[in-house]
Amino acid sequence: MSEPRSPDAFSPMRWEGPGLQLLEQTKLPAEEVWIDCDTPEQVADAIRRLAVRGAPAIGVAAAYGLVLGMRTVRDPGRLRARFEEVSELLGSTRPTAVNLRWALGRGREVFERSVDQGPEAVTAALLAWARELHAEDVRINRRIGEHGATLFAGGSRVLTHCNTGSLATAGYGTALGVIQSAWRDGKVERVWVDETRPLLQGARLTAWELKKLGIPFRLVTDNSAGILMARGLVDGIVVGADRIAANGDTANKIGTYTVAVLAHRHGVPFYVAAPLSTIDRATPNGAAIPIEERKSSEITEVFGTRIAPDETEALNFAFDVTPAELITGIITEVGVLRPPYERSIAGAFGEP
Ligand code: MRU
Repeated sequence: MSEPRSPDAFSPMRWEGPGLQLLEQTKLPAEEVWIDCDTPEQVADAIRRLAVRGAPAIGVAAAYGLVLGMRTVRDPGRLRARFEEVSELLGSTRPTAVNLRWALGRGREVFERSVDQGPEAVTAALLAWARELHAEDVRINRRIGEHGATLFAGGSRVLTHCNTGSLATAGYGTALGVIQSAWRDGKVERVWVDETRPLLQGARLTAWELKKLGIPFRLVTDNSAGILMARGLVDGIVVGADRIAANGDTANKIGTYTVAVLAHRHGVPFYVAAPLSTIDRATPNGAAIPIEERKSSEITEVFGTRIAPDETEALNFAFDVTPAELITGIITEVGVLRPPYERSIAGAFGEP
């Protein structure tokens, strides 16, 4: 099965010939460069550097990383130790995005089913699975888009934070997929794109994707959300998620919580769009979600130029947690979940 390619759902990764290629997102929008990854170390490095980023995209990249790690094993007796090593390497890259752990867990099941058949069978089984995960993510995102589009009325001005589009997934996107589907249905007049400090995923990536798609947007600073809502210029908000706890509390890019509080103050619907693989039922609530802290130079410098005085120490939380009570609905591939989330999330997983 080949990776999905269509104008509305390009993929930021491809498995071609000898290995994995990733669209180098740190260079966008100035340059569209693909990097080759032949080892799991290179995949882990790309995830850490945010060359590939966005919770679902990280999960699929890690799946291919497992293939790269296992395909060099010749001795059947080394298979298990190598799997643990590669799984640990990839799993340690980013702590908040649960899709990473989720994908590695599914990879482990594939490994267990094939390990007795030897090294070649393990690699073949993992590659077939990774390719299917890649294609499945796009199918899921399209379903999220369909469910989400029903929530918007014609002429909506929709605000989003960070980047949740094709770049952040295997293709099509979650929150940006919802915006794309709603726009196709004639419901979106304009998208407000938060620039998303400090790494500017909104300004660099979401603006790049929306421009390609021809969807009207305007870029705003993160701290414009208040005045936009106060002036009645926002009809709805849709964001992605890195991890949703069992009670609906949601970790997403730093600044999301601020937007949610403002939305509550101004009576603007606030939606989270994510696949079920982003819901971590083993994490009871937001307080239990590990929050990634990144290096302070991401704040004290802008594209390598220092903007704060020497020796300034910054605190760089990459994510924050929006309490479930501020979330109007969680848009998933099985439908829109509504409060109380403990119940609707359990229902989405097939429990009564
Ligand atoms: O640090 P990033 O760029 O990986 O953060 C991405 C986000 O916060 C996204 O909103 C989230 O991963 C969902 S992507 C579909």
